[in-house]
Order: sequence, then structure tokens, then C-alpha cells
Amino acid sequence: MSDWDAKLYSKFEKDRTQPSIDLVHSIPSNEAKLIIDIGCGIGNSTMVLKKRYNDARIIGIDSSDDMLIKAKKDYPNFEYIKLDAGKELDTLNDKYDIVFSNACIQWIPDHKSLIPKLFNLLSKNVIQTVVNSTKWCIKFSKPRELFSLLEEEYYDVFAKLTNNFRIWETIYFHTMPSHQSIVEWYKGAGLRPYLEQLSDEDKVSFEADILDEVKKTYPVQKNGDIIFKFPRLFMLACNY
Ligand SMILES: C[S@@+](CC[C@H](N)C(=O)[O-])C[C@H]1O[C@@H](n2cnc3c(N)ncnc32)[C@H](O)[C@@H]1O
Repeated sequence: MSDWDAKLYSKFEKDRTQPSIDLVHSIPSNEAKLIIDIGCGIGNSTMVLKKRYNDARIIGIDSSDDMLIKAKKDYPNFEYIKLDAGKELDTLNDKYDIVFSNACIQWIPDHKSLIPKLFNLLSKNVIQTVVNSTKWCIKFSKPRELFSLLEEEYYDVFAKLTNNFRIWETIYFHTMPSHQSIVEWYKGAGLRPYLEQLSDEDKVSFEADILDEVKKTYPVQKNGDIIFKFPRLFMLACNY
């Protein structure tokens, strides 16, 4: 799969970071010495962790070169490791006081085994958090699989690990200045696996079709803004 485009992703950094802020402030523990941010991307979620846990050593891991280059440039005070969290978590030797992840695990398959592995990275008596966060079909030899379970399935996975967990959903009302901005938002994340399969000519036509659909789906407010509703599933689990 093609690499992430850090510049495009960071175009909506403020809106993309809000779920991390909300999740970090839901963590009951006020102290942490060692934290890992899985899928730290451009370091925005890592910085949110730092603001609450100022004394902690924080390690960001990510599989994307482009995202890590920007993270290291913008937030040079954190440690970063290039690692595929779907395959290489076993290479981490430490135990962490907080295992955090925002908008990453939907890119990793098999959550029934991934979540226990994340939980296992926790040190004793501390906490773990996770968030999640057509005519064109024939053009896609590999349609993107969205790796997620039903809410009830997540419940069962966590219930096997601990009695101390919460799952909730928040629908964010992101304010967008144009329909094209919504297309740009998706180009920076969910559309990547589709666009990489198309020729340049098909890309233009595909994006035009998406823009048409976006225009039909999202009405323009009286002041010209567009409300872009984005649901996110939050999961917070402690091992005490
Ligand atoms: C939507 S970004 C989230 C970035 C940041 N955590 C935030 O809150 O905005 C998803 C990140 O997950 C990373 N990622 C996707 N699959 C991964 C994997 N298997 N292992 C490690 N990182 C992964 C991507 O490279 C990307 O930087």
C-alpha cells in the first residue's frame, strides 16, 4: 500500500486531534511514567498525551515513513519507532502505563487478537486505551477492508480481559468550508487505498464522482459552512 501523505493528513490537524484530546482526558489515571502511542502519525496525538502526562517518557510508533518524518520534525522531543503494529508488537520489550491509539487500529486486521496484545503491553495496575476511531467497484481489485468489529463484539473482547472498561461513541460535527474539503479529508486517510489503484485519469473522474455524492449528502448551512458528521467509537480499558 502507498505511504501516507503527512502534508495532506495535517491539513485538518485540529479536527483530527480533537478525539485524542477527548480520549486522553477520559483516562482516570493522573500519573504515567511510560506511554506508547500506537499509530502516532504526525505526532499530534503524542503531543496531546504529553500535555496531560508532562513527566512521562512517550514513544510513538508508526509504520509510515512520511508520517514519522513529519512527527520527528514537528515534535522532536518524543522517541519514535517504525513498526507495524499488526505484526511486530512482540518486538516491544517494555510494559507501558498507557497504551494509546487514535484513528489507527481500523487499518490493522484481526481485532480479536490485536486488542488482547495491546492489553498485554500494559504494566501492572495501570490503563489501556484504544480509539477507533459502487460504478467504481470493478476498478478496484482490492477494495479496502475496514478492520472493525461490531460494538457488541468489542464488548466481548474487553469483557474477557477486564471488568474495568468503557465503550462509547461520539459524533463529531466538523465544520468544513466547502464540499471539496470533505473530499480532501478522505484523500488524507480513507480514500488512499482506492486512489492508489487508479490511473491518473480515473483518479480525476473518481474524485469528481465522490464530490457529487458529497454535495448530495451534506447540505450547506446558512453561513456557507458544511457540517461534516463523523462518528468515532472510543474504548477505554484498565487492567486494575
Ligand atoms: C489516521 S492516522 C492517525 C494519526 C494520529 N494518531 C492522530 O490521532 O491523528 C493513522 C496512522 O496509523 C498508522 N498505521 C496504520 N497502520 C499501522 C500499522 N499496522 N502499524 C503502525 N501504524 C499504522 C498510519 O501510518 C497513520 O500514521
